[in-house]
Amino acid sequence: MTTPSPALLRPILETDLPAMAALEAELQSFPWTAMQFLQSWADGHRGWVATIGDEVVGFAVVSQVLDEASLLTLGVGSRWQRRGIARQLVQQLADEASERGAAVLLLEVRKGNAAARSLYRRMGFVETGLRRGYYRAEEGREDAVLMTLTLDEGGR
Ligand SMILES: CC(C)(COP(=O)(O)OP(=O)(O)OC[C@H]1O[C@@H](n2cnc3c(N)ncnc32)[C@H](O)[C@@H]1OP(=O)(O)O)[C@@H](O)C(=O)NCCC(=O)NCCS
Repeated sequence: MTTPSPALLRPILETDLPAMAALEAELQSFPWTAMQFLQSWADGHRGWVATIGDEVVGFAVVSQVLDEASLLTLGVGSRWQRRGIARQLVQQLADEASERGAAVLLLEVRKGNAAARSLYRRMGFVETGLRRGYYRAEEGREDAVLMTLTLDEGGR
């Protein structure tokens, strides 16, 4: 069972991007680089960080075009996992996207990422497609599973 989250959420500031890139590098075999975080920020993508004290322990980046929001990247530092922080971050994004008029929150996740797929399923996302060979993998390519959360009017 998830223990109560010890983290506070706040909107991402540009000064958080290096800490987010460092976390991402720790968590992913093919991480977004610091440059990709900067480019995403320059493209207007925003989101939320989870903090404990002064430390950024998690992040979620989202983009929105008309009534479609997309979760672009999500991570929680390994020593802070299984405390409900990712759930808190995704819920915040979903609520905010809904308030901004999004009807759906979309994402792509590696087929082999059981932890993330389980998180999203438990939050009400459904699997709506497959992109074959979408991601680089240690050996060859890995499929992406497309997942969709239908957002209720006025927030979930
Ligand atoms: C996926 C990730 C963001 C989950 O973060 P987290 O803060 O540990 O997740 P939460 O504590 O909010 O977990 C909520 C639910 O997700 C599922 N879940 C989370 N981690 C899991 C794991 N390792 N194995 C199985 N289920 C898991 C569980 O259903 C969990 O609920 P429970 O603890 O009550 O069983 C984190 O493992 C991570 O950063 N992984 C590496 C980066 C990544 O995969 N990002 C997503 C890319 S699409």
